[in-house]
Amino acid sequence: MCGIIGYIGEDNALPFLLEGLEKMEYRGYDSSGISVMSENKIKTYKKCGRLEALKNTLASENTLVSSIGIGHTRWATHGKPSDINSHPHVSQSGKISVVHNGIIENYISLKNFLVEKGYKFISDTDTEVVAQLIDFHYDGDLLKAVQKTVSDLEGSYALGIICSDEPDKIIAVKKDSPLIIGTNYGENKDKSENYIASDIMALLLRTRKIYRLQENNIAVIKKNSIVVYTPEEKILNPEKDFELANWDIESSGKGNYEHFMMKEIMEQPEVISKTLTSKIKNGEISFEHLNISDEYLKNISKIYIVACGSAANAGLVGRYIIEKLLKIPVEVELASEFRYKEPLVDKTTLVIVISQSGETADSLAALREAKKQGAKILSIVNVRGSSIANESDYVIYTSAGPEIAVATTKAYSCQLCIIYIFSLFLADKLNIMDSSDMSKYINKLASLSDKIQEILLKKEQIMEIAKKYKDNKYAFFIGRTLDYAVCMEGSLKLKEVSYIHSEAYAAGELKHGPISLIENGTLVIALLTQDKLFDKMVSNLREVKARGAKIFAVTTIDHKEKISQIADDIFYIPNSLSEFSPSLSVIPFQIFSYYSALLRNCDIDKPRNLAKSVTVE
Ligand code: F6R
Repeated sequence: MCGIIGYIGEDNALPFLLEGLEKMEYRGYDSSGISVMSENKIKTYKKCGRLEALKNTLASENTLVSSIGIGHTRWATHGKPSDINSHPHVSQSGKISVVHNGIIENYISLKNFLVEKGYKFISDTDTEVVAQLIDFHYDGDLLKAVQKTVSDLEGSYALGIICSDEPDKIIAVKKDSPLIIGTNYGENKDKSENYIASDIMALLLRTRKIYRLQENNIAVIKKNSIVVYTPEEKILNPEKDFELANWDIESSGKGNYEHFMMKEIMEQPEVISKTLTSKIKNGEISFEHLNISDEYLKNISKIYIVACGSAANAGLVGRYIIEKLLKIPVEVELASEFRYKEPLVDKTTLVIVISQSGETADSLAALREAKKQGAKILSIVNVRGSSIANESDYVIYTSAGPEIAVATTKAYSCQLCIIYIFSLFLADKLNIMDSSDMSKYINKLASLSDKIQEILLKKEQIMEIAKKYKDNKYAFFIGRTLDYAVCMEGSLKLKEVSYIHSEAYAAGELKHGPISLIENGTLVIALLTQDKLFDKMVSNLREVKARGAKIFAVTTIDHKEKISQIADDIFYIPNSLSEFSPSLSVIPFQIFSYYSALLRNCDIDKPRNLAKSVTVE
């Protein structure tokens, strides 16, 4: 979703702003823009469409040099994508320029108020209200005007603000939307310069030294100082709270791959191994920094897993694992539903929030709701210091590294691993698993990376299968229990990147309605890894085959004889414990989705209408 960038220092801001915007393209956007200062005036350039359009406009402005600037990639919420609705938004007086992520919920009443005061609006956005309101409050002190403005705002907002009367500062504000400040470091440390961004990826070009602005705080950023104000007007010196980001710029590049999605699929053996070794040492599971008491763990009566999209699909796998290993009832809820459904939680409920970005608005709101009702929150998050991580009682980080492709692959896989390890950890704490079973599970976990590697080496086989079905208009994924949970993820992956409409069904459910859609040539993708359900699955496949379906089956080699009699295409995955099979069976689905998208000329890393980090409801 929207991305903010800002620079103040001694160099020309423009190249940094454009590079930063480029690094945030993966978040999803439909327009971009920048404001810089030239001859004591704010100059703003904004363009609908890809960043290329903005760069083309700026190409002729070769005399444009400014040591301060803000920039933005917009993902339209209020008003269609257009040049005028793009950010930055500049106040009527031309003095104040603002970039904004989030939504101002009371913008209509504020707009009416400002119109009465004589302000004229040119865009359909909520953000223009912020620029005009700061202008209205401005009497020569930008900080005061911003403080007054935010006390009028309702909603979520990360803001970057510049003012032509005070060209020595950028003001940054954070409420319910991410914003980080970077400072010169390493090779750059002799320069006086500071930066703001909504995404660490945009800052890695210059620095790994970052400060995470806390909720409701306002920062005044000059080229050689950063001062932070709390809502109570307490002044904070952030120096001691700077941290070094553990991601580097190389890991955010495409390497030799054509697309980030394939690069990230291929990174899975490595990141899974990292995730496992960070939590399992000498055959023992340890969550060193979790600080979760045994007494609390023993009293858990119910677990909710709350998340969106693929993270919720990881939760579906989690439900089967936790219920099987721990016999604790688990409910998996989409965060957007959980937050409004008056969930039955109390202090014996553990709510597990899963999120790659740690910023998903619905997941964050669900977390707050659960906390309000007295539950403890354990989050499984990829981005360090993100809002969900910050607001949780306990956090477990996945070690997926930066994930740039909008469609998640490696982060989902790492989420599965954390679910397995945490379930075993809990089984140990609750004394419900004997040591030989524990060792068996831990050994099998340790072999996952190699088995995934085996699958990846056969990716061309899956490409050949994708070639056969690339023109299909729709597909069904079917499986039972854990396989059904993985089918949910396979189906989401296929539709989001290749635009082939697909649905996942529990195989036993087909005859209760969806089978009416099966006709000659309909693609049915079947997952059969659960040995005791294999014959049931084969019966379901016979039903669709009899109605003309083409079957692509993913299973293990032990089932070769039976499956060859019915499936048109087969991909074999290595054997594993049935509990851990999702980590293997999801890989062919990711690869199939990738090649289907490639063969259909889709924008694989940035599918239409999608955003990587969904920071609005
Ligand atoms: C699909 C995908 C999304 C995300 C969802 C939640 O490939 O990536 O469905 O899983 O938007 O995002 P996070 O995990 O950042 O909360």
